[in-house]
Amino acid sequence: MTSRLRPPWIIALVTLLAAALGVVPAAGRGVARAADAPYKDPSLPVATRVDDLLSRMSLDDKAGQMTQADRGALTTVSDVAAYRLGSILSGGGSAPSSNTPSSWADMYDNFQRQALSTPLAIPMIYGIDAVHGHNNVVGATIFPHNIGLGATRDPDLVERVGRATAEEVSGTGIDWTFAPCLCVARNDRWGRTYESFSEDPQLVTQMTTIVDGFQKAGNASILATAKHYVGDGGTTGGRDQGNTELSEADLRAIHLAPFKAAVQRGVGSVMVSYSSWNGARMHGNKYLITDVLKGELGFKGFVVTDWAGIDQLDGQTGFTANEITTAINAGVDMVMVPNDYKKFISLLKQEVQAGRIPTSRIDDANRRILTKKFELGLFEKPLTDRSYTSTVGSAAHRAVAREAVRKSLVLLKNAGNVLPLAKTGGKIFVAGKSADDIGNQSGGWTISWQGSSGNITTGTTILQGIRDLVGSGAQVTYNRDGSGIDSSYRAAVAVVGETPYAEGQGDRTGSMGLDSTDLATLQRLKASGVPLVVVLVSGRPLDIAGQLDQWNALVAAWLPGTEGRGVADMLFGDSAPSGRLPMTWPRSADQEPINDGDGKDALFKYGYGLDYTVPPPQSPPASPSPSPSPSPSPSPSSSPSASPPAGGCLVTYRTNDWGGGYTADITITNRSSSAVNGWRLQWTYAGNQKITGYWNAVVTQSGQQVTASNASYNGTIGANGGTASFGFQGTYSGANATPAAFTLNGAACAVG
Ligand code: GLC
Repeated sequence: MTSRLRPPWIIALVTLLAAALGVVPAAGRGVARAADAPYKDPSLPVATRVDDLLSRMSLDDKAGQMTQADRGALTTVSDVAAYRLGSILSGGGSAPSSNTPSSWADMYDNFQRQALSTPLAIPMIYGIDAVHGHNNVVGATIFPHNIGLGATRDPDLVERVGRATAEEVSGTGIDWTFAPCLCVARNDRWGRTYESFSEDPQLVTQMTTIVDGFQKAGNASILATAKHYVGDGGTTGGRDQGNTELSEADLRAIHLAPFKAAVQRGVGSVMVSYSSWNGARMHGNKYLITDVLKGELGFKGFVVTDWAGIDQLDGQTGFTANEITTAINAGVDMVMVPNDYKKFISLLKQEVQAGRIPTSRIDDANRRILTKKFELGLFEKPLTDRSYTSTVGSAAHRAVAREAVRKSLVLLKNAGNVLPLAKTGGKIFVAGKSADDIGNQSGGWTISWQGSSGNITTGTTILQGIRDLVGSGAQVTYNRDGSGIDSSYRAAVAVVGETPYAEGQGDRTGSMGLDSTDLATLQRLKASGVPLVVVLVSGRPLDIAGQLDQWNALVAAWLPGTEGRGVADMLFGDSAPSGRLPMTWPRSADQEPINDGDGKDALFKYGYGLDYTVPPPQSPPASPSPSPSPSPSPSPSSSPSASPPAGGCLVTYRTNDWGGGYTADITITNRSSSAVNGWRLQWTYAGNQKITGYWNAVVTQSGQQVTASNASYNGTIGANGGTASFGFQGTYSGANATPAAFTLNGAACAVG
């Protein structure tokens, strides 16, 4: 079969002759109509389609493809066609007036129809910062920021986060996210620390699975962006857009490694960093962009600048022809102008026509861009796939986000096993500026560029998550600043930390401690004597060493996003803490930069994180009586052995007391040579202790007589030193003396 493909030079020659004679080539006579052109044929190899299309493109077409404008900068929507714009973006917070998924989709389709109205009908590609969910869209699922995802140590989960995000992004038409940031944050002063998975390049590398989540989402696949190339997280002093002063060997070992992994996964685009390497701006670094990224690493996608990134090359505001030439010749393929796109196109064409930018460079850039557009299927399906629009904020995606929140939490302190809290009995006090604030718990890049405190989108605050989980099992009192706390509460949960910020606005050059609002709240709670559980909502490790000894427990929650219930799940034992620090936690801000292996004495080392030493508490009876009454479940795995353990037993009974409340942790040690199958521990209080909640056993009380029976999962106490543990909470007045005697299945135990 003769090939339908006419050699490009024939097409170009006839087109030029036709144009010169003012004759529009008629269909079928020598020159294929665009509608029949090979590049329109999805059965042909992408490379063939690219070659055909490129051969039909004018300099206007090619310059347009390399131009990205912000939606808000367009003089008129028809400029998309008039200037042959290859890409539109939404910078942080650049949203349609009605911020709903369908309005986003309508806006996208409107821009796309303009692009398709051009003679070659090359679809535009729309980019957005979907960096922790589709975070510009009200109602979208907001996932934990990367620092929290790094704490999960779960690459598979992170891939699922990427896929869920891709579905929500696709549901609004958009085809390209400027994510993941593969920044390796080496100084926590940096305002973008939370956009980094870790200080450790290997952990960041492991999390590049999110690229597959974005790009292998079936019909919802979107283009991913590995950013910011390269060394953005390694600047001196952690200054955003600063200077990374490193040897090439260290730059490669610390900052290049994750990009190598992303390229191997086929990441579609790479965004250049604002930062400099040893004084040279990355946006003009031909060695690293062309020789290393495209040559050595074999990157086949396209390189995009950061927002107005080329403007910084000469240190003056705005961009010049020289800056354009420097960046394009360094290997930049698309320029996020993003405002004065008309001037950019004019100067770019001027530089090409003057021979300062080779046509070969222009053609290479276009090949790369067009290849990704063909691979994305934009020529076949250029408009929104509305079947995904309903996935925005869906229950299924929120479930993934809640799982990610649970797994991101790092338990840093848990004195007296105050966590997990019992779900039932007594009163719990919740306080802190971030307890009931979806904006704070989401952080920057949420609805707006910088993010903001307040009820900015739909989701579950941490307080609401606690209320939903506890239900009527206990009284939950909330007061933002802690006013009203007293010793009648069995625990206080303080959710404190940072308010939202993004990029350089988040740089902390001075203190990295808690603000005065938080410190006052914590002081008020501490004064009550109630066990204090601190949940830190922050984009980085904070300087809290000076307050830590006043806290009974500390949980690093990072920036969890909309699913605050995940925090409650862990606080009350529906999930056990499994997060591990992705960043070294400094003893003092003066230690920054502080990283694993640098020999500095950290407060908490990289990789640190506690587990619950006891299994999560069983679910106690649905409607507990004020003082626990015998409950049918959980029943012991078998009835307590008739004979008491020969060789005896040892009981340790430890309490954490405050005001009129206490928690108790009990461990039973079986010193006999035979296992105990099913146990019942009994004692008599001398005082007026009243047990109000319990875990890992069923604890009943009749007057001063107390009986604790094993749960189904800890009924066996192994021989020769085996142990079983359980705990409970209670109230008392006057003394809270340790009982003088305990019996295990009727036999006296020693008291340790
Ligand atoms: C910003 C950020 C970059 C983002 C881009 C578009 O300045 O540096 O991460 O993708 O501009 O919003």
